[in-house]
Amino acid sequence: MRRPIVAANWKLNGSLEMTQTLVSAINSHSANYDSVDVVISPPFPYLIKVAELISTNNVHLGAQSAAEYESGAYTGEVAAVMLAEVGCQYVIVGHSERREYYGESDEVVAAKFLQVQQAGLIPILCVGESLEQREQGVMQETIVRQVNTVVDLAGIAAMQNSVIAYEPIWAIGTGKTASPEQAQEVHALIRAEIAKQSTEIAEQLRILYGGSVKAGNAAELFSQADIDGGLIGGASLDAEQFNAIVSAAS
Ligand code: 13P
Repeated sequence: MRRPIVAANWKLNGSLEMTQTLVSAINSHSANYDSVDVVISPPFPYLIKVAELISTNNVHLGAQSAAEYESGAYTGEVAAVMLAEVGCQYVIVGHSERREYYGESDEVVAAKFLQVQQAGLIPILCVGESLEQREQGVMQETIVRQVNTVVDLAGIAAMQNSVIAYEPIWAIGTGKTASPEQAQEVHALIRAEIAKQSTEIAEQLRILYGGSVKAGNAAELFSQADIDGGLIGGASLDAEQFNAIVSAAS
């Protein structure tokens, strides 16, 4: 059995005041669902505060990105080793918003993944196709290329301590979620791709779905054979919604 993960991605949202109320609501609810790993990924300035506020064993700290370098003259960047130092356990890499708005190529994403792993953290590697790619029939090759660029650089063994999140770009923040069948198809494709190199690693790899997951659709998505939890954007800013998604994963 793969242990489910429900990960919050706050994106560019939040305030110090919000961290207090949201994290405390997540703490008390998650304590009743210790079969689920809950990850909170706030913006960088709030990481230390959230680390202090987390008081439940199955709630973990995550970051939304990390630099592809360990240190040096890279103004504005944050290194994975620094994230480890302030208590992060997970780091999201290759989110489609980073790929699209900040020009992160598959190669840059792979370099970031490697930095995160080398810092002893668990990367949550995001992959996903645009609506155009889906309509042009290149969805599968897009996903396989995104996964394999990372596996080629980091090695298949690196996937043992990693998480993959399938986030179709057309479902992010649009209210238009992939159907459970559509998501399952891609999750199975990702697992099969990993299984070409190691069935054992493929079997234990946790693959999350992201894209308009809400309290109302989470249970059905999570009931699919290869969906091991969710990466939650908008609904993670609402304690009631997010907690209901945690319950759905248990
Ligand atoms: P939404 O849940 O707002 O669609 O965002 C999904 C996402 O991008 C999580 O990383």
